[in-house]
Amino acid sequence: MNITFYGHACFLIELGNAKLLIDPFISGNELAKHINIDDIDCTHILLTHAHQDHVLDAEAIAKRTGATIVSNFEIANYYQAKGCSVHPMAHGGCVNFDFGTIKMVNAIHTSSFADGTYGGNPAGFVIWNSDECIYHAGDTALTMDMKLIPMQCPKLSAAILPVGDNFTMGYKDAAVAADFIDCDEIIACHYDTFGDIIACDQAAATTVFNKAQKTISFMEIGETKSI
Ligand code: NI
Ligand code: MN
Repeated sequence: MNITFYGHACFLIELGNAKLLIDPFISGNELAKHINIDDIDCTHILLTHAHQDHVLDAEAIAKRTGATIVSNFEIANYYQAKGCSVHPMAHGGCVNFDFGTIKMVNAIHTSSFADGTYGGNPAGFVIWNSDECIYHAGDTALTMDMKLIPMQCPKLSAAILPVGDNFTMGYKDAAVAADFIDCDEIIACHYDTFGDIIACDQAAATTVFNKAQKTISFMEIGETKSI
């Protein structure tokens, strides 16, 4: 599995023949100015919730690539009305695609589009095939529901967790989340994007994770890692 970080909460997960782009917010991200959204190829676009810092480039990329948008019912309807191909699902649901399985799981947050349109309930995704399994938590607080993931899904190869605090959990809660989901390989997201408000002390976060005998990665924007 290859994982490419495109800044904020946006990752491209390459799993078998599938290229799953999660939460594309690139053209509006000052830190991702070197990424051209027209260079990104994907087969599916997964949206955790409707906030602008997760969906900004979804429509443009979906229309150029023909990728299927996978999200909650309300977000799927919103993009279907714009002419995009969609697959709606809801929390607790598992869908078997040709490349593997996606399960939509709980997140504690909110979800509305920039124009005020209702965006359903926020979610995370667990994605797997016979070899690998990854969790993208979306924007969320630490929640006991995370304990369900190791009970219901294959062993996680890695997990993407928000660490920037203020709008989501911070790194201390993320270290507890790593324990709840039984995953030692954590990739940080949702930090540093908007100046100080979600700034993350990476050295302090690394210390907390190391004490818990877990690894946290802060990827460079544009970097790809193989797991
Ligand atoms: Ni959000
Ligand atoms: Mn966000």
